[in-house]
Amino acid sequence: MIFTAYLDIDSIMQAVSEEAVWRYITKPWQDSRELVMAVRNAFQYHEAMTFHRLAAEQLQRAERLAALGHLVAGISHQFNNIDVGILGYVQLSLLHKDLPAEVREHLEQVRVCARRGTEIIKELATFSDQSTQWGFTCGSLTDTVIEALSFCRKELDAEGIQIETEFADECNAVFNFGLVKQLVMNLIRNAAHATLGKETRTVRIETGKQGENIFVRVTDNGCGISKEYLPKIFDPFFTTKGAQAAPGSTQSGVSGVGLGLSLSQTVAQAHRGAITVQSTPGSGSCFTFSLPVA
Ligand SMILES: Nc1ncnc2c1ncn2[C@@H]1O[C@H](COP(=O)(O)OP(=O)(O)O)[C@@H](O)[C@H]1O
Ligand SMILES: [Mg+2]
Repeated sequence: MIFTAYLDIDSIMQAVSEEAVWRYITKPWQDSRELVMAVRNAFQYHEAMTFHRLAAEQLQRAERLAALGHLVAGISHQFNNIDVGILGYVQLSLLHKDLPAEVREHLEQVRVCARRGTEIIKELATFSDQSTQWGFTCGSLTDTVIEALSFCRKELDAEGIQIETEFADECNAVFNFGLVKQLVMNLIRNAAHATLGKETRTVRIETGKQGENIFVRVTDNGCGISKEYLPKIFDPFFTTKGAQAAPGSTQSGVSGVGLGLSLSQTVAQAHRGAITVQSTPGSGSCFTFSLPVA
């Protein structure tokens, strides 16, 4: 803040007491260069303080994510042990030949539930592993998207999905490489699942810059999302796949636990970014993850 007023002592005292004043010079100026230097230094000081605040915020976010990652990794590990135990004993019990049919059916249900537990743990673990491994670093979103695509490429090719890409060169920002890679992989996999049953299956992946943001956009020509479901897709455990799929839906053949978008949104928010979606039921969807450059 720069005061030019004469004798506004109350405002000056208030600013000083709030530590908003970095330096002041008094009128009349002996030499106008003194004022020029003071203003220039004040701007540099302001820039340095802003950078310091952003760096501190980023560190705080990285620490929070890492702490969450550790916690989730610990819980996943414990639950995995429990699940392995349940599945093992169910398997052993099912080996008994003279089990009453009803008991056998109940045990099969226990197995289905325990397997779902394992799937949830697996999904949580992918995100938690990444957050503990990587801090926030400056990098190219395009490179990260290319890496995410290379991880999914085999499954996409095996499914006969056509992949279209349009990547921008200048796409740098400070982000958590591992988490953003998982986010993008989730968008790509969802797009692939959505196109199940379509004659031509297409997934388009773009990166680019728009104003102060860089973005990755994943568009598919799949089933789209109904108006009724659109507000729910980011809810944890909301899924239209596997056992939760509508009768006769092509999505009943793929497993889903409904954590991908919810975790991806958490990741986006931790980057001060956002995921937006546009969808036309029956024609396809377009998901955009954007994050600020600075
Ligand atoms: N590209 C998409 N096209 C159509 N529906 C989608 C798409 N992406 C997500 N969805 C819907 O959002 C739900 C939640 O997605 P997600 O959180 O990734 O969980 P999951 O993939 O395990 O079902 C999906 O089950 C699906 O109904
Ligand atoms: Mg998913």
